[in-house]
This record gives sequence, structure tokens and C-alpha cells, in this order.
Amino acid sequence: MGKLDGKVAFITGAARGQGRSHALRLAQEGADIIAVDICAQIDTVAYPMATSEDLAQTVKEVEAFDRRIVATEADVRDYDAMKAAVDSAVAELGPIDIILANAGIAPQGAENPDEVKTFRDVVEVNLFGVWNTVQAGVPSMIAKGQGGSIVLTSSTQGLSGAGGNGSGAGDGYAASKHAVVGLMRTFTNWLAQYSIRVNTVHPTGVNTPMVVNDVMQKFLTENPDATAMLGNLLPVPMLEAIDISNAIAWLVSDDARYVTGVTLPVDAGFLAK
Ligand SMILES: NC(=O)c1ccc[n+]([C@@H]2O[C@H](COP(=O)([O-])OP(=O)(O)OC[C@H]3O[C@@H](n4cnc5c(N)ncnc54)[C@H](O)[C@@H]3O)[C@@H](O)[C@H]2O)c1
Repeated sequence: MGKLDGKVAFITGAARGQGRSHALRLAQEGADIIAVDICAQIDTVAYPMATSEDLAQTVKEVEAFDRRIVATEADVRDYDAMKAAVDSAVAELGPIDIILANAGIAPQGAENPDEVKTFRDVVEVNLFGVWNTVQAGVPSMIAKGQGGSIVLTSSTQGLSGAGGNGSGAGDGYAASKHAVVGLMRTFTNWLAQYSIRVNTVHPTGVNTPMVVNDVMQKFLTENPDATAMLGNLLPVPMLEAIDISNAIAWLVSDDARYVTGVTLPVDAGFLAK
């Protein structure tokens, strides 16, 4: 028996990286999965984003746990597309119990970036996208009337400005990840009446294609001052996606049934510096 038997979890950015890891970890606990990912490139992002093949791989791996999954290619910036994805998945799997607003971009390191467009894109994905995700998913959760749990993925950059360098990408990333905390707090107040809990997680660097790519490695090499700010206290340079998934699996389970409104670092001590 899993801790999430019979639950339905709606996860954005589920094609790869942390989103796929969360889908697998929650499926392992018995949840069925509604997976959404853009599976396309945003032109201000210089590293390769997820593909349709990545999303298909998530489907395969969730099904290997004998769980159901409905996967849709949709952009979190597009509310109508998100609503349509949720509605058709809920018709198949039943109402939503868990929402993980995980999709995000970190467009640092582009050659000759359009700073204004980059700032706008990162805020639209990382902030508007989170709002759209919750607004699209939560009516189903409220209608079910059995509470629920929402986790918004922020970052250590949602509680710290360490490493800031004045770029549209860096400013937009830190601003959007801080703003997600504001969303979490207002959602917490709104949704408590329905016994729906809302929390943020704040990972330090995680071993996913967002940061383990040539563009980000070049950026870090060329900006040693910023890089020096990004070390963790515990002797680990980067976490694995499963480390974040394990924290989320606890947060969304009944083991955390009275935990709401919390900013939970999963950061090897980064924020204690
Ligand atoms: N990797 C890190 O070091 C790190 C650290 C702290 C926080 N985060 C955050 O964790 C979350 C997951 O990132 P990851 O590390 O798994 O990176 P990733 O790039 O591997 O995964 C992000 C996923 O989101 C999808 N996505 C991006 N924009 C989208 C959009 N507009 N609509 C739908 N899907 C979209 C991508 O296609 C990709 O599959 C992000 O919010 C990121 O900001 C990452």
C-alpha cells in the first residue's frame, strides 16, 4: 500500500528533470498522474528544453508502476490550454488531489540576449505559469471536497538574491521565484477553508538538464564571482531530482497534514549561510 493510493496528481514540467522524478515518486506511492509539459523551445532559452519523446518516456515510466497517466503538451503561460488539459484528464482519471506547479525556465547564459524579452519570458513562465496551473487545477480539487495539497516549486533564488548580476534572466528568475512565495501565501489563506494545503519548495542546484548543459556551464565558468556564491554548506555540489521528490512526497502526504504556508528549503544548507 502506498501513501497516495487513489490520489490524482497534476504535475507541470513533467517531461523530464524534477517533474518526471516527482511523477515517478508519486506514482510509486499509488497516485495517478496528469502530466503537462510544453515540449517545445522558448526562443530566449539557450539550452534545449524538453521534447515529445521526453514526455513519452515519463508516460512509459509511470505506467511501469502500474499507474494511469494522461500526458498533454501545453504551455503553462496559456490558461485556456491548461484548463483544457486538466478538464480532459480529470474526465479520464477523476478529480485532482495534488498539484505540483513545477515547470520553469532559467534562461541565463544566452549569447547577446534580448534582456527585456528574457525578463518577460522568465516571469511569464515561472510566475504566471504557476498562477495558471493552480487556477486551472484547483476548481476540481475544491469540487471534490476532500482537501488536497499544492506544492509550488520555487528555488533558493526565491529566498535569496545571491549571485545576482543584473541580467534579465537572473533578475527575472529571482523575482519570479520570490513572487511564487507570495502566491503560495495568498493561496494558503484562500484555500485553507477547503482543507487544501499550499507550500513552496526551494531547491539548491539540482542535477537536471536545466543546469547540466553547455550553456549554463559556460555561464558559470565566465562568472566565477556568481558561481562562488552558489556553494552549499553540506559537502555536495548538486542534489539529485529524487531528493526534491522525496521532500514533496512527504509534503503532499497525510504525514504533513497540518503543514501549510511553509517555505521548505531542500538546499544542503545553502540558505543558512
Ligand atoms: N535544476 C536546478 O538547479 C533547480 C534549482 C532550483 C529550482 N529549480 C526549479 O525546478 C523546476 C524544475 O526544473 P528542472 O531542474 O527539472 O529543469 P528542466 O529544464 O529539466 O525541467 C523543466 C521542465 O519544465 C518544462 N517547461 C518549461 N517551460 C514550460 C512552459 N512554459 N510550459 C510547460 N512546461 C514548461 C520544460 O520543458 C522541462 O521539461 C523549475 O521550476 C526550476 O526553476 C531548478
